[in-house]
Amino acid sequence: MIVLGIESSCDETAAALVRDGHELLASCISTQVKLHAAYGGVIPELAAREHLKNITPVISTVFEQAKLSIEAVDAVAVTNGPGLIPALLVGNSYAKGLAMANKLPLLGVNHFEAHIYAAFLKHPELLKKPSNFPLLALVVSGGHTALVLIQADGQAELLGSTLDDAAGEALDKAAKILDLGYPGGPIIERLAKDGNPQAYNFPRALTGASGKATPKEHRFNFSFSGVKTALLYAVKDQRLDARQLADVLASYQAAVMEVLLSKSMAAAEEYAVPMLCLCGGVACNGYLRRRFQEECEKRHKQLILAEPVCCTDNAMMVAGLAWHYFKHGLQDDLSLPVYARLPEKLPKFPFAPAFKS
Ligand code: KG4
Ligand code: ZN
Repeated sequence: MIVLGIESSCDETAAALVRDGHELLASCISTQVKLHAAYGGVIPELAAREHLKNITPVISTVFEQAKLSIEAVDAVAVTNGPGLIPALLVGNSYAKGLAMANKLPLLGVNHFEAHIYAAFLKHPELLKKPSNFPLLALVVSGGHTALVLIQADGQAELLGSTLDDAAGEALDKAAKILDLGYPGGPIIERLAKDGNPQAYNFPRALTGASGKATPKEHRFNFSFSGVKTALLYAVKDQRLDARQLADVLASYQAAVMEVLLSKSMAAAEEYAVPMLCLCGGVACNGYLRRRFQEECEKRHKQLILAEPVCCTDNAMMVAGLAWHYFKHGLQDDLSLPVYARLPEKLPKFPFAPAFKS
């Protein structure tokens, strides 16, 4: 079964053709980073206009790549939230038009869930084994920082999430403070490469590092607004040379990443998970990947790391996950809504081995 996936929740217009949930036939991602760079963040209205321009060429490209036409497609899937409403509306309207005109089933996909599924696109066999569950996922992107525990029956629990900024947002805002460009994550990673991560002692909120105990209910929550403010004061009225800048960025990156790591490892221990996955755009970060690998090896836990192109926004994860929805009888109609925020109660995750709708 071939699913056409469409993604337009933020600043990437993407389409993909995926067979049976994992076999990639074609993928195209058109990014708007240059457009938003001038503002240091994504402007929803501009993103929507750009999606409108790019969506037809992006979809045409995947059909050309796969040497297929719409007649070969069995269902149309689209991210319908969480995300920026004006941006989501473009992909959703397009998907509805395509589904209606071609009499195809329509599937609205949860973007957050799709980021988790992305880690398994190349390893679908891992999701068939109940012994790999409960699975712990750290979803860390520009919009989310959350720890999710997924049971073998698909029940998912949000163990914790950020109380303010997402980790990716903290990196993007730091780059903005230092006038380095957008998106901040990859720029900081590059400039921090030869810096000393111990040069500056940036705060690690809700970890007990400051000497103040973390309340139990916040042990898996995150907060990144303080580290950003600490950076702002550390560099205020300073003229940093390249060496100092590398040290500031290496220390800042380490502060953000070490919090992600320590909370994930604490949750992995508490829930005795056999398998963890790292998902979302920040999961491209080499420092984070390396540290996760080291700590998971020590604990004899399996770590699933998607290749970077699957970590950032793409439509492969949308088309892939939608196949599981469809297989379990989930389907939407043309009244499918879009939504901005993650629902308080997570839906069941249909890629779990014993999922029942
Ligand atoms: O998943 P994504 O493409 O979009 C959202 O759903 O938010 O993630 C974008 C985020 C941005 O904050 C960006 O700075 C961050 O991922 N990012 C990185 C790296 N590449 C992208 N952060 C750290 N290191 C990277 N190499
Ligand atoms: Zn995303």
